Amino acid sequence: DWTMEHVVEMEVEKIRDQVGDRKVLCALSGGVDSSVVAALIHRAIGDQLTCIFVDHGLLRKNEADDVMRTLGDGFNMNIIKVDAKDRFLSKLEGVSDPEKKRKIIGNEFIYVFDDEADKLKEIDYLAQGTLYTDIIESGTETAQTIKSHHNVGGLPEEMELQLIEPLNTLFKDEVRALGTELGVPEHIVWRQPFPGPGLAIRVLGAITEEKLKIVRESDAILREEIKEAGLDRDIWQYFTVLPDIRSVGVMGDERTYDYTIGIRAVTSIDGMTSDWARIPWDVLEKISTRIVNQVDHINRVVYDVTSKPPATIEWE
Ligand code: XMP
Repeated sequence: DWTMEHVVEMEVEKIRDQVGDRKVLCALSGGVDSSVVAALIHRAIGDQLTCIFVDHGLLRKNEADDVMRTLGDGFNMNIIKVDAKDRFLSKLEGVSDPEKKRKIIGNEFIYVFDDEADKLKEIDYLAQGTLYTDIIESGTETAQTIKSHHNVGGLPEEMELQLIEPLNTLFKDEVRALGTELGVPEHIVWRQPFPGPGLAIRVLGAITEEKLKIVRESDAILREEIKEAGLDRDIWQYFTVLPDIRSVGVMGDERTYDYTIGIRAVTSIDGMTSDWARIPWDVLEKISTRIVNQVDHINRVVYDVTSKPPATIEWE
């Protein structure tokens, strides 16, 4: 595509002009925006870019390895992976309020990032994958008050880094096209949105390692089956949630008293409103059967048939 090739060339020139021989730091989340921004800046300045990838222990199955393999090995990027699971989980212990969880994770993320950034020498720029829509949304009151997003304005003040935001005039579809042009693999370019607080807001109430495992394993099964059914590009987001309830079931001759998994799958244009996805029943059946058979402590699967509004996409 000539147009995108041209956009890449222009952006690369701009970044080279701005940065010169100085160094850039980038917070990599594995999402579309931060991956594309890292790939673009890497194209422009190669080893002058260092990425920090904070694994907060709340990622989906295989997510951290995948980021390291595709961007670290595949693109030959400098990525510092910080295994901060214990730090996050100990801060979150016993915390059940969703907004408190978000705040703890957002703050901890900045502390961990800061600690790593401090170890690096002579960094002048911080790259962020801010999109045009992020800027607009953060300006509206509802986006801020309903749930505290931490993509914008989460910079520690004392860092004194200059921001580079090469995507801040682009919409999501343009970012995807740019990523494709840069050779970012399809599964990253077309990745469904995943919230910063990760699985912490999909285990309802207080988080335990066991509950994280349940939600991680069930989510992996759901994702496999949605992809297998060819629905992954039609559904905006699809994931499992673990409500804090148990119910009675029967397995063989035994009565069970175990957890329920909720499946959430929605269609949407921008995440502001959504409808529940009409997943074919046989696909739902397969997902349900696999989850109950393969994930310990689950004896019931329910499907969320609520639109947004009145529900939100996430359950917390
Ligand atoms: P809701 O649940 O408000 O979600 O309908 C709308 C979109 O935002 C995502 N989301 C978040 N993203 N930090 C994020 O980075 C958060 O705390 C957060 N909460 C919700 C959600 O996945 C959906 O795409």
